[in-house]
Amino acid sequence: MPVIDLRSDTVTKPTPEMRRAMAEAEVGDDVFGDDPTVIALEERAAELLGKEAGLFVASGAMGNLVAQMAHLARGEETIAGEQSHIVMDEAASHAVVVGSSIRVIRERPDGTLDPGEVRAAFRDPTDVHEPITGLVAIENANAHTMNQPLSAAYTREIAQVARDGGVPLHVDGARFWNAVVALGDRPTDLAGPADSLTFCLSKALACPVGSVVVGSRDFIWKARRARKLLGGGMRQVGVLAAPGLLALRDGPAGMIERLADDHANARRLAEALAEMDGIVSAGDVAQPTPGRLDPARVTTNFVIFKVERDRPAFIDALERRGVLLVAYPHGQVRAVTHYGVEQADIETAIDAFRQALAETDHAPVEPSPDRLAGAAA
Ligand SMILES: Cc1ncc(COP(=O)(O)O)c(C=O)c1O
Repeated sequence: MPVIDLRSDTVTKPTPEMRRAMAEAEVGDDVFGDDPTVIALEERAAELLGKEAGLFVASGAMGNLVAQMAHLARGEETIAGEQSHIVMDEAASHAVVVGSSIRVIRERPDGTLDPGEVRAAFRDPTDVHEPITGLVAIENANAHTMNQPLSAAYTREIAQVARDGGVPLHVDGARFWNAVVALGDRPTDLAGPADSLTFCLSKALACPVGSVVVGSRDFIWKARRARKLLGGGMRQVGVLAAPGLLALRDGPAGMIERLADDHANARRLAEALAEMDGIVSAGDVAQPTPGRLDPARVTTNFVIFKVERDRPAFIDALERRGVLLVAYPHGQVRAVTHYGVEQADIETAIDAFRQALAETDHAPVEPSPDRLAGAAA
């Protein structure tokens, strides 16, 4: 049975062209700065985002970590969204490795932080008791709010708040290109206000490995040193950078433009799910009042919802039909569209959803934590 794997866009496999490019990549020792393919990738990423320099790293988590290490001194503090990846999903590396704390702010349903709350979250540097605010971090697209894209105007506003507080702005752009395509903005407009940004090659762009961090030359030098400290200095790593260069090509040759297909597929899935009894909105910060799933909230490649069924049994029933999803925090379920999932697969998945709903025992939706349910009030 063919498998339609909607667990994440991280499950994408490299294209045949990527595999060939990996085999044929010109390589050198990247720690000596000798790998021409890595250099070309870093330069291409920096050029696309209007920054001075780039750094190829092993993962999105490493990108965020080296950015924090470059920006922060021990004992400093980052202001970030409560549901953001650096807060929820990076094993507290900010504390364990960087020696920093994070002050969290609740995301609004559109994935943004209230700029006034960010301003108010800055610590008083004259008070000996308080940590020192050293960084503001936002996530674009914003995963937990259905991967909402954050606008250039919002990014500029937050960057201004950061600047007024004398600290840099970091953008965790693991799915930055989804935001670019969803908004139809120029990448430089979305990245411009940020002092640093990291984006993943290994997610929707279908590369097997890696992320790129971009910023000023000085910042990238510090990030490079941080990468070495973490053991992330790799040698003939052009074999991994080569697919990234293909993915970042302009037009239909690259992997950016085609993200519009993933977004259309996600919207189609959401429209069909919205019509099914038993599928309800996420009921948390993404869509605070449980009710019909609102397909208009699907603007990129995530569909997040709740199911009035025994959730593990429902996910199993889908898996038996070859459709893979993941349980998401707060009793939710997530489906993600990506390269390799075609329009016809979405229609097959929709049939499987109907059958799985019919077959699975009813169960009340798990309530969202109050602090989340209230977040959008
Ligand atoms: C918003 C966000 N940031 C960072 C990451 C980390 O990426 P990686 O899995 O490559 O470490 C992820 C991964 O899913 C993510 O969703």
